[in-house]
Amino acid sequence: MNLQQLSQELNLIAKKAGAFIKQEAENFDRSTIEMKGFANMVSYVDKQAEEMLVEDLRKLLPEAGFITEEGTDTTRQDRYNWIIDPLDGTTNFTHGLPLFSVSVGLMENKEIVAGVVYGVMHDECFWAYKGGGAYLNDKKIHVSDITTLEQSLIITGFPYYEETKAKQYLEILHAFMARSHGFRRLGSAALDLAYVAAGRAETFFEYNLQPYDVAAGIILVQEAGGQVSMFGDGDDFIFGKQIIGSNGHIHQQVKDTINEFWK
Ligand code: IPD
Ligand code: CA
Ligand code: CA
Repeated sequence: MNLQQLSQELNLIAKKAGAFIKQEAENFDRSTIEMKGFANMVSYVDKQAEEMLVEDLRKLLPEAGFITEEGTDTTRQDRYNWIIDPLDGTTNFTHGLPLFSVSVGLMENKEIVAGVVYGVMHDECFWAYKGGGAYLNDKKIHVSDITTLEQSLIITGFPYYEETKAKQYLEILHAFMARSHGFRRLGSAALDLAYVAAGRAETFFEYNLQPYDVAAGIILVQEAGGQVSMFGDGDDFIFGKQIIGSNGHIHQQVKDTINEFWK
């Protein structure tokens, strides 16, 4: 498979879904929001964007299966599977905060080999494929070269369900606050990882994430020269519900700080 060619097509598909989301953002009616759980919203925009993506991706790679947030297609295949979050940052979207993205990763066996994160309102297309580097629109991107936590900007997310780890998480945040340039909580895990890949922040970490939140971002960080891991020793950062993405230089410092409190 020619991953470079596939990526060009993938970018167009993500941008098409993004154009739909942008158009709907202009006159979004909040009464159309449905609740999937406490503070977990979904709208017709998420669902229709996913349907568009699935239809186009089926044509692009007929032998691939799907893992999708809204469940449009749940057929899994052995070798290739698309991992799709049609609208990452739904809470931002519903409040009119312009930070949300379309995120699509292609998994071959258990590895992400291509991915796109399209920042809809800024028209920023972050994309990468295995061995080919990472890009923002048509420019190559690279993680930052900052080597100390003290000079680092950190992005995280606060899970709105799964309360059991909340206390430990707050302790972790407290420790980082005293040792860094501080935190941003942007509200789209896919964009968070893309921003680390582009050198706009040194690290992103969060727990309780799903494969569709991180799949595309993983290859972006890796191909931009950064590092991705779980909080501890495991390497299942696609399905393992916890992730650290960083510029590589500060990765161990981030891991150590998290593990002072994460039990
Ligand atoms: C959410 C965003 C958010 C993260 C949540 C995710 P959604 O995805 O990525 O940044 O903190 O855990 O669920 O629901 O907007 O697709
Ligand atoms: Ca998401
Ligand atoms: Ca979503």
